[in-house]
Amino acid sequence: MAVLPIVTIPDPLLKQVSKPVDKVDDTLRDLMDDMLDTMYDAPGIGLAAIQVGKPIRVLVIDLGDKDGDTRGESPNPRFFVNPEIVWTSEELAEYNEGCLSVPEQYAIVDRPAQCHVKYLDYDGNEQMLEADGLLATCIQHEMDHLEGILFIDHLSPLKRKMILKKLKKNHKLAS
Ligand code: NI
Repeated sequence: MAVLPIVTIPDPLLKQVSKPVDKVDDTLRDLMDDMLDTMYDAPGIGLAAIQVGKPIRVLVIDLGDKDGDTRGESPNPRFFVNPEIVWTSEELAEYNEGCLSVPEQYAIVDRPAQCHVKYLDYDGNEQMLEADGLLATCIQHEMDHLEGILFIDHLSPLKRKMILKKLKKNHKLAS
């Protein structure tokens, strides 16, 4: 288990479309374990493989207890290999999203309130999950990463510009 470096914008990797996984084996499970460690360390509630530089269709998510506190006493890690959204609700939900690859920036994003997702689990077994609430939002946010899409790509050009400007400023201050 290891904490891996997280890729942040403007790294072009984040715009890459990730490739399907051929098989769920120990090498992949090692990566998923490392992704989980990296996500807990950050801390965050979701991470896509591309965010640790691996362009493959793998996500880890842990919303922990019902308050979404992953540092609590009840870790609840979920692993998604080759996830596919097979249904989304017409009803939308908004959430103030952030992303480990867009450090310290947050914005309201509208997404379908519920989704059904088909995927392979940690053991390579096919699963179907009916998600709503924060889990539905988180799955859709992470699945966007597999297509090279960030949450800021859902914002108006003006809002996106403001966030990119702030990031640039923070980066200058830090360097
Ligand atoms: Ni993200």
